[in-house]
Amino acid sequence: MQSEQNRITELFTIKYPIIQAGMIWHSGWKLASAVSNCGGLGLIGAGSMYPDVLRENIQKCKNATDKPFGVNVPMLYPNLDEIIQIILEEGVKIVFTSAGNPKTYTETLQKEGLKVAHVVSSTKFAIKCEDAGVDAIVAEGFEAGGHNGRDETTTFCLIPNVKKHISKPLIAAGGIALGSQMKAAMILGADGVQIGSRFAATVEASAHDNWKRKITELNEGDTHLTLKELAPVRMVKNKFFNELEEIYNAGRNTDALIESLGRARAKRGMFEGDMEEGELEIGQVSALIDEILPVEEVFSHLLKEFEDTKMPNF
Ligand SMILES: Cc1cc2nc3c(=O)[nH]c(=O)nc-3n(C[C@H](O)[C@H](O)[C@H](O)COP(=O)(O)O)c2cc1C
Repeated sequence: MQSEQNRITELFTIKYPIIQAGMIWHSGWKLASAVSNCGGLGLIGAGSMYPDVLRENIQKCKNATDKPFGVNVPMLYPNLDEIIQIILEEGVKIVFTSAGNPKTYTETLQKEGLKVAHVVSSTKFAIKCEDAGVDAIVAEGFEAGGHNGRDETTTFCLIPNVKKHISKPLIAAGGIALGSQMKAAMILGADGVQIGSRFAATVEASAHDNWKRKITELNEGDTHLTLKELAPVRMVKNKFFNELEEIYNAGRNTDALIESLGRARAKRGMFEGDMEEGELEIGQVSALIDEILPVEEVFSHLLKEFEDTKMPNF
Protein backbone atom coordinates (compact mmCIF):
# COMPACT_ATOMS: atom_id res chain seq x y z
CA MET A 1 0.00 0.00 0.00
CA GLN A 2 1.32 3.44 -0.92
CA SER A 3 1.40 5.79 2.02
CA GLU A 4 -0.21 8.68 0.20
CA GLN A 5 -2.11 11.07 2.43
CA ASN A 6 -5.89 11.16 2.53
CA ARG A 7 -8.45 12.89 4.77
CA ILE A 8 -8.04 10.39 7.61
CA THR A 9 -4.24 10.21 7.60
CA GLU A 10 -4.11 14.02 7.50
CA LEU A 11 -6.68 14.43 10.26
CA PHE A 12 -4.87 12.14 12.69
CA THR A 13 -1.33 12.65 11.26
CA ILE A 14 -0.81 8.94 10.73
CA LYS A 15 0.76 6.96 7.89
CA TYR A 16 -2.03 4.49 7.05
CA PRO A 17 -5.81 5.03 7.37
CA ILE A 18 -6.09 2.03 9.70
CA ILE A 19 -7.61 2.54 13.14
CA GLN A 20 -7.47 -0.13 15.81
CA ALA A 21 -10.86 -0.15 17.48
CA GLY A 22 -11.21 0.60 21.17
CA MET A 23 -12.23 -2.74 22.69
CA ILE A 24 -13.08 -3.48 26.31
CA TRP A 25 -10.61 -5.94 27.89
CA HIS A 26 -8.33 -5.89 24.82
CA SER A 27 -7.01 -2.49 23.96
CA GLY A 28 -4.64 -1.31 26.65
CA TRP A 29 -1.42 0.61 26.05
CA LYS A 30 0.42 -2.40 24.59
CA LEU A 31 -2.01 -2.88 21.71
CA ALA A 32 -2.59 0.83 21.09
CA SER A 33 1.12 1.72 21.05
CA ALA A 34 1.98 -1.27 18.82
CA VAL A 35 -0.61 -0.16 16.25
CA SER A 36 0.53 3.48 16.38
CA ASN A 37 4.15 2.39 15.98
CA CYS A 38 3.14 0.55 12.78
CA GLY A 39 1.69 3.74 11.30
CA GLY A 40 -1.99 3.23 12.18
CA LEU A 41 -3.97 4.86 14.95
CA GLY A 42 -4.07 2.89 18.21
CA LEU A 43 -6.97 3.49 20.59
CA ILE A 44 -6.98 2.73 24.30
CA GLY A 45 -10.39 1.33 25.26
CA ALA A 46 -11.59 3.24 28.32
CA GLY A 47 -14.78 1.16 28.58
CA SER A 48 -13.26 -1.52 30.82
CA MET A 49 -10.95 0.76 32.80
CA TYR A 50 -11.41 2.48 36.13
CA PRO A 51 -10.23 6.10 35.87
CA ASP A 52 -6.84 5.43 37.54
CA VAL A 53 -6.25 2.44 35.23
CA LEU A 54 -6.98 4.61 32.22
CA ARG A 55 -4.51 7.25 33.40
CA GLU A 56 -1.82 4.57 33.83
CA ASN A 57 -2.52 3.20 30.34
CA ILE A 58 -2.29 6.65 28.76
CA GLN A 59 1.00 7.35 30.51
CA LYS A 60 2.46 3.98 29.46
CA CYS A 61 1.27 4.52 25.89
CA LYS A 62 3.02 7.90 25.77
CA ASN A 63 6.24 6.18 26.84
CA ALA A 64 5.83 3.37 24.30
CA THR A 65 5.20 5.50 21.20
CA ASP A 66 5.95 8.96 19.93
CA LYS A 67 3.19 8.57 17.34
CA PRO A 68 -0.42 9.76 17.70
CA PHE A 69 -2.83 7.55 19.64
CA GLY A 70 -6.30 8.10 21.04
CA VAL A 71 -8.84 6.94 23.61
CA ASN A 72 -12.21 5.33 22.92
CA VAL A 73 -14.94 6.40 25.32
CA PRO A 74 -18.13 4.29 25.14
CA MET A 75 -20.79 6.44 26.75
CA LEU A 76 -22.65 3.55 28.36
CA TYR A 77 -20.32 3.17 31.32
CA PRO A 78 -20.01 5.24 34.54
CA ASN A 79 -17.40 7.87 35.54
CA LEU A 80 -17.66 9.60 32.15
CA ASP A 81 -16.82 13.11 33.34
CA GLU A 82 -13.83 11.80 35.27
CA ILE A 83 -12.64 9.86 32.20
CA ILE A 84 -12.88 12.99 30.04
CA GLN A 85 -11.01 15.00 32.68
CA ILE A 86 -8.15 12.47 32.69
CA ILE A 87 -7.97 12.52 28.89
CA LEU A 88 -7.60 16.30 28.98
CA GLU A 89 -5.09 16.31 31.84
CA GLU A 90 -2.92 13.71 30.12
CA GLY A 91 -2.83 15.68 26.87
CA VAL A 92 -4.46 13.00 24.67
CA LYS A 93 -5.12 14.48 21.23
CA ILE A 94 -7.77 12.15 19.78
CA VAL A 95 -11.02 10.75 21.21
CA PHE A 96 -13.46 8.27 19.65
CA THR A 97 -16.82 8.39 21.46
CA SER A 98 -19.46 5.69 20.99
CA ALA A 99 -22.79 4.40 22.31
CA GLY A 100 -24.23 7.80 23.13
CA ASN A 101 -25.01 11.29 21.89
CA PRO A 102 -22.20 12.83 19.80
CA LYS A 103 -23.14 16.27 21.12
CA THR A 104 -22.27 15.45 24.74
CA TYR A 105 -18.49 15.91 24.61
CA THR A 106 -17.55 16.95 21.07
CA GLU A 107 -17.46 20.71 21.65
CA THR A 108 -15.75 20.46 25.05
CA LEU A 109 -12.99 18.31 23.59
CA GLN A 110 -12.57 20.32 20.40
CA LYS A 111 -12.26 23.56 22.41
CA GLU A 112 -9.21 21.97 24.04
CA GLY A 113 -7.77 21.16 20.61
CA LEU A 114 -8.70 17.46 20.43
CA LYS A 115 -9.99 15.70 17.32
CA VAL A 116 -13.23 13.83 17.89
CA ALA A 117 -14.72 10.89 15.99
CA HIS A 118 -18.03 9.26 16.88
CA VAL A 119 -19.22 5.72 16.11
CA VAL A 120 -22.69 5.09 14.62
CA SER A 121 -24.55 2.19 13.05
CA SER A 122 -26.98 4.09 10.82
CA THR A 123 -27.11 6.96 8.34
CA LYS A 124 -29.62 8.76 10.59
CA PHE A 125 -27.08 8.91 13.41
CA ALA A 126 -24.24 9.76 11.03
CA ILE A 127 -26.17 12.90 10.06
CA LYS A 128 -26.51 13.71 13.78
CA CYS A 129 -22.75 13.40 14.11
CA GLU A 130 -22.22 15.82 11.28
CA ASP A 131 -24.65 18.27 12.95
CA ALA A 132 -22.71 17.86 16.22
CA GLY A 133 -19.56 18.95 14.40
CA VAL A 134 -17.42 15.82 14.89
CA ASP A 135 -14.17 15.61 12.92
CA ALA A 136 -14.81 12.10 11.57
CA ILE A 137 -17.55 9.50 11.61
CA VAL A 138 -17.14 5.77 12.13
CA ALA A 139 -19.96 3.84 10.47
CA GLU A 140 -20.13 0.34 11.90
CA GLY A 141 -22.02 -2.46 10.17
CA PHE A 142 -24.03 -5.31 11.68
CA GLU A 143 -21.13 -7.75 11.22
CA ALA A 144 -19.07 -5.99 13.88
CA GLY A 145 -18.15 -7.43 17.24
CA GLY A 146 -19.41 -5.88 20.46
CA HIS A 147 -22.28 -3.40 20.86
CA ASN A 148 -24.10 -2.63 17.69
CA GLY A 149 -27.20 -1.09 16.12
CA ARG A 150 -30.67 -2.60 16.02
CA ASP A 151 -31.24 -2.23 12.31
CA GLU A 152 -28.99 -5.02 11.07
CA THR A 153 -27.48 -2.81 8.35
CA THR A 154 -24.36 -4.44 6.97
CA THR A 155 -21.17 -2.50 6.23
CA PHE A 156 -21.69 -3.10 2.51
CA CYS A 157 -25.03 -1.25 2.62
CA LEU A 158 -24.20 1.28 5.31
CA ILE A 159 -21.05 2.89 3.91
CA PRO A 160 -22.41 4.06 0.52
CA ASN A 161 -25.53 5.43 2.19
CA VAL A 162 -23.64 7.32 4.89
CA LYS A 163 -21.26 8.59 2.23
CA LYS A 164 -24.21 9.95 0.27
CA HIS A 165 -25.45 11.98 3.24
CA ILE A 166 -22.36 13.31 4.97
CA SER A 167 -19.28 15.26 3.98
CA LYS A 168 -17.02 14.58 6.99
CA PRO A 169 -14.22 11.99 6.73
CA LEU A 170 -15.73 8.52 6.94
CA ILE A 171 -14.28 5.43 8.62
CA ALA A 172 -15.80 2.02 7.88
CA ALA A 173 -16.03 -0.61 10.62
CA GLY A 174 -17.44 -4.12 10.83
CA GLY A 175 -16.23 -7.15 8.94
CA ILE A 176 -12.79 -5.87 8.01
CA ALA A 177 -9.81 -8.09 8.75
CA LEU A 178 -8.13 -8.45 5.35
CA GLY A 179 -6.56 -5.91 3.02
CA SER A 180 -9.10 -6.88 0.34
CA GLN A 181 -11.94 -5.98 2.72
CA MET A 182 -10.21 -2.71 3.53
CA LYS A 183 -9.91 -1.88 -0.14
CA ALA A 184 -13.57 -2.80 -0.73
CA ALA A 185 -14.65 -0.48 2.11
CA MET A 186 -12.63 2.35 0.62
CA ILE A 187 -14.04 1.73 -2.85
CA LEU A 188 -17.50 2.01 -1.28
CA GLY A 189 -16.61 5.48 -0.04
CA ALA A 190 -14.73 5.17 3.25
CA ASP A 191 -11.58 7.23 3.85
CA GLY A 192 -10.26 4.70 6.34
CA VAL A 193 -11.14 1.62 8.36
CA GLN A 194 -11.61 0.75 12.02
CA ILE A 195 -10.64 -2.82 12.78
CA GLY A 196 -11.64 -4.62 15.99
CA SER A 197 -11.82 -8.42 15.84
CA ARG A 198 -8.55 -8.89 13.89
CA PHE A 199 -6.66 -6.89 16.53
CA ALA A 200 -8.39 -8.80 19.36
CA ALA A 201 -6.43 -11.92 18.36
CA THR A 202 -3.00 -10.33 18.53
CA VAL A 203 -0.11 -10.97 20.86
CA GLU A 204 -0.35 -7.41 22.22
CA ALA A 205 -4.09 -7.53 23.05
CA SER A 206 -4.66 -7.74 26.81
CA ALA A 207 -7.33 -10.45 26.55
CA HIS A 208 -6.90 -13.98 27.96
CA ASP A 209 -5.07 -16.56 25.82
CA ASN A 210 -8.05 -18.97 26.03
CA TRP A 211 -10.13 -16.33 24.34
CA LYS A 212 -7.57 -15.43 21.70
CA ARG A 213 -7.27 -19.14 20.80
CA LYS A 214 -11.05 -19.47 20.70
CA ILE A 215 -11.28 -16.56 18.23
CA THR A 216 -9.01 -18.45 15.84
CA GLU A 217 -11.33 -21.51 16.03
CA LEU A 218 -14.63 -19.72 15.35
CA ASN A 219 -16.55 -20.39 12.16
CA GLU A 220 -19.35 -18.72 10.26
CA GLY A 221 -22.51 -18.66 12.34
CA ASP A 222 -20.74 -18.92 15.69
CA THR A 223 -21.65 -15.33 16.69
CA HIS A 224 -25.06 -13.74 17.02
CA LEU A 225 -26.49 -10.28 17.70
CA THR A 226 -28.59 -10.55 20.85
CA LEU A 227 -30.46 -8.23 23.26
CA LYS A 228 -31.71 -6.17 20.33
CA GLU A 229 -34.22 -4.06 22.29
CA LEU A 230 -31.95 -3.54 25.27
CA ALA A 231 -28.31 -3.13 24.28
CA PRO A 232 -27.65 -5.04 21.05
CA VAL A 233 -24.39 -6.93 21.24
CA ARG A 234 -22.73 -9.51 18.98
CA MET A 235 -21.24 -12.38 20.93
CA VAL A 236 -20.28 -16.04 20.70
CA LYS A 237 -23.05 -18.59 21.18
CA ASN A 238 -21.84 -20.24 24.40
CA LYS A 239 -23.54 -21.30 27.66
CA PHE A 240 -23.85 -17.70 28.84
CA PHE A 241 -25.39 -16.68 25.51
CA ASN A 242 -27.97 -19.49 25.79
CA GLU A 243 -28.91 -18.45 29.32
CA LEU A 244 -29.34 -14.84 28.21
CA GLU A 245 -31.54 -15.88 25.30
CA GLU A 246 -33.71 -17.96 27.66
CA ILE A 247 -34.33 -15.00 29.98
CA TYR A 248 -34.89 -12.72 27.01
CA ASN A 249 -37.33 -15.05 25.28
CA ALA A 250 -39.17 -15.81 28.51
CA GLY A 251 -40.48 -12.27 28.79
CA ARG A 252 -37.73 -9.73 28.45
CA ASN A 253 -37.11 -9.22 32.13
CA THR A 254 -34.82 -6.23 31.79
CA ASP A 255 -33.58 -6.32 35.40
CA ALA A 256 -32.58 -9.97 35.16
CA LEU A 257 -30.80 -9.33 31.88
CA ILE A 258 -28.89 -6.36 33.17
CA GLU A 259 -27.90 -8.32 36.28
CA SER A 260 -26.79 -11.24 34.15
CA LEU A 261 -24.82 -9.02 31.79
CA GLY A 262 -23.05 -6.45 33.89
CA ARG A 263 -19.42 -5.71 33.23
CA ALA A 264 -18.39 -8.78 35.16
CA ARG A 265 -19.46 -11.31 32.51
CA ALA A 266 -17.41 -9.64 29.78
CA LYS A 267 -14.40 -9.57 32.09
CA ARG A 268 -14.95 -13.20 33.08
CA GLY A 269 -14.99 -14.32 29.48
CA MET A 270 -12.55 -12.18 27.54
CA PHE A 271 -10.12 -11.20 30.30
CA GLU A 272 -10.26 -14.18 32.69
CA GLY A 273 -10.70 -16.84 30.02
CA ASP A 274 -13.97 -18.53 31.05
CA MET A 275 -15.24 -19.67 27.65
CA GLU A 276 -18.65 -20.91 28.87
CA GLU A 277 -19.81 -18.57 31.65
CA GLY A 278 -18.32 -15.38 30.22
CA GLU A 279 -19.54 -12.93 27.60
CA LEU A 280 -17.44 -13.25 24.43
CA GLU A 281 -17.74 -10.30 22.05
CA ILE A 282 -16.40 -10.74 18.54
CA GLY A 283 -17.41 -10.00 14.95
CA GLN A 284 -18.53 -12.29 12.12
CA VAL A 285 -15.11 -11.80 10.55
CA SER A 286 -13.65 -14.06 13.27
CA ALA A 287 -14.35 -16.91 10.80
CA LEU A 288 -11.45 -15.50 8.74
CA ILE A 289 -9.00 -15.23 11.65
CA ASP A 290 -6.87 -18.37 11.99
CA GLU A 291 -3.84 -17.21 13.92
CA ILE A 292 -2.85 -15.08 16.88
CA LEU A 293 -0.32 -12.70 15.35
CA PRO A 294 1.87 -9.83 16.51
CA VAL A 295 0.46 -6.45 15.44
CA GLU A 296 3.38 -5.90 13.08
CA GLU A 297 2.42 -9.04 11.13
CA VAL A 298 -1.24 -8.07 10.99
CA PHE A 299 -0.11 -4.80 9.46
CA SER A 300 2.18 -6.36 6.88
CA HIS A 301 -0.64 -8.76 5.82
CA LEU A 302 -3.17 -5.94 5.59
CA LEU A 303 -0.88 -3.73 3.53
CA LYS A 304 0.21 -6.51 1.17
CA GLU A 305 -3.34 -7.79 0.65
CA PHE A 306 -4.51 -4.23 0.03
CA GLU A 307 -1.83 -3.80 -2.61
CA ASP A 308 -2.45 -7.22 -4.22
CA THR A 309 -6.21 -6.76 -4.51
CA LYS A 310 -6.97 -5.71 -8.06
CA MET A 311 -10.22 -5.10 -9.85
CA PRO A 312 -11.14 -8.22 -11.87
CA ASN A 313 -11.74 -7.75 -15.59
CA PHE A 314 -15.27 -8.21 -16.81
C1 LIG B 1 -14.10 -7.58 21.96
C2 LIG B 1 -14.68 -6.30 21.46
C3 LIG B 1 -14.86 -5.25 22.33
C4 LIG B 1 -15.36 -4.04 21.86
N1 LIG B 1 -15.46 -2.99 22.72
C5 LIG B 1 -15.81 -1.77 22.24
C6 LIG B 1 -15.73 -0.63 23.08
O1 LIG B 1 -15.31 -0.68 24.23
N2 LIG B 1 -16.09 0.57 22.53
C7 LIG B 1 -16.52 0.70 21.22
O2 LIG B 1 -16.81 1.81 20.78
N3 LIG B 1 -16.62 -0.39 20.43
C8 LIG B 1 -16.23 -1.59 20.89
N4 LIG B 1 -16.23 -2.68 20.05
C9 LIG B 1 -16.54 -2.46 18.61
C10 LIG B 1 -15.25 -2.06 17.91
O3 LIG B 1 -14.86 -0.78 18.35
C11 LIG B 1 -15.31 -2.05 16.37
O4 LIG B 1 -16.13 -1.03 15.88
C12 LIG B 1 -15.73 -3.38 15.79
O5 LIG B 1 -15.01 -4.42 16.42
C13 LIG B 1 -15.45 -3.41 14.29
O6 LIG B 1 -15.89 -4.60 13.73
P1 LIG B 1 -14.97 -5.92 13.58
O7 LIG B 1 -14.98 -6.56 14.92
O8 LIG B 1 -15.70 -6.70 12.55
O9 LIG B 1 -13.61 -5.47 13.17
C14 LIG B 1 -15.73 -3.90 20.50
C15 LIG B 1 -15.55 -4.98 19.64
C16 LIG B 1 -15.01 -6.16 20.09
C17 LIG B 1 -14.77 -7.28 19.13
